[in-house]
Amino acid sequence: EKGGYAHYMQKEIYEQPKAVRDTLSGRVTEDGTRVVLSELGWTEDLIKQIDRIHIVACGTSYHAGLVGKAAIEKLARIPVDVEVASEYRYRDPIVSRNTLIVVISQSGETADTLAALRNAKALGNRVLAITNVVGSSVAREADDVIITWAGPEISVASTKAYTTQLVALYLFAIYLGQTLQTIAQDAVTTYVRELQALPQKLDEVLQSAPQIEEIARAFAVWDDAFFLGRGIDYYVALEGALKYKEISYIHAEAYPAGELKHGTLALIVDHVPVIALVTQDELYEKSLSNIKEVKARDAYVLGIAWAGDEEIAKSVDRVLYVPRTLPFFAPIMLIAPLQLLAYYASVARGNDVDKPRNLAKSVTVE
Ligand code: M6R
Repeated sequence: EKGGYAHYMQKEIYEQPKAVRDTLSGRVTEDGTRVVLSELGWTEDLIKQIDRIHIVACGTSYHAGLVGKAAIEKLARIPVDVEVASEYRYRDPIVSRNTLIVVISQSGETADTLAALRNAKALGNRVLAITNVVGSSVAREADDVIITWAGPEISVASTKAYTTQLVALYLFAIYLGQTLQTIAQDAVTTYVRELQALPQKLDEVLQSAPQIEEIARAFAVWDDAFFLGRGIDYYVALEGALKYKEISYIHAEAYPAGELKHGTLALIVDHVPVIALVTQDELYEKSLSNIKEVKARDAYVLGIAWAGDEEIAKSVDRVLYVPRTLPFFAPIMLIAPLQLLAYYASVARGNDVDKPRNLAKSVTVE
């Protein structure tokens, strides 16, 4: 049932191009000029009333939510807060009548996420669920649902669910922006075109698996790893670090690169692996100077950057290139190498990749 793959996680990583295609399918017009989310059936008036969005989720779904915030704020100019469900549900958050609550859950059964949904409904707020399981508790109880068509995800480590959550959030952000006219028509067309090009580009990214395996073997002898990024790259760094620690059991930390000198730099020693994500053009020079800071302490730096970026190669020990897309969609390109890095580090350490110790696929208790 693993279709020739050694583990479900590996299979699910390779299913991502198809999963992205399936999640996009039927959600853009044939001429590629508009996003259609007919499952929502929202009127323009309803959309105009939304004055704030709270995104609530756990783990990997929370990390997708962070990217969603960046996308929605950029394209629709609606303020978005993202919060871990176990905190949000007990916090008495300030929720206006027109605050839209978006819950994200692969399984649709996560206890804290479901509780946050119920609290929001009790307050009379509209709840939109982004979930992978049709008929799950979250899907049944929310007012509106966007299904991510990732297909069943068996491995405890979430991979294709994350990628498709990102696609759903991008579609949602464009949908809001095109309705509110906070983005021009030609920008909508560009976004849609780029979204449609992602599966093909993801296929290309996956071809670097042998190089990543070799790097992961070298990294797996170390007891720490640091994931750095700025802006959206930082949000992906968080997800990369979670994946890495979850299945390799190696201590991993994600840091906004600019925060290094506020403490973390003390931990950077000779050869410690640093994974630096560098795709956000307007932050490029800043990121490069952070890389120099860790290199000066003899860290071993793996840079992940856009194909064609020759500059980066001069500053790091090893580069992995990913096909260029809009800076905004970079997470879809960056996450596959990070998933593979975690996967091969886990294999190198002889761990049970699909069933990491102490963890369950679906956390239905607090
Ligand atoms: O099913 P959900 O998306 O609600 O699950 C949330 C988290 O439990 C989940 O993403 C978890 O963090 C993954 N095991 C990470 O790989």
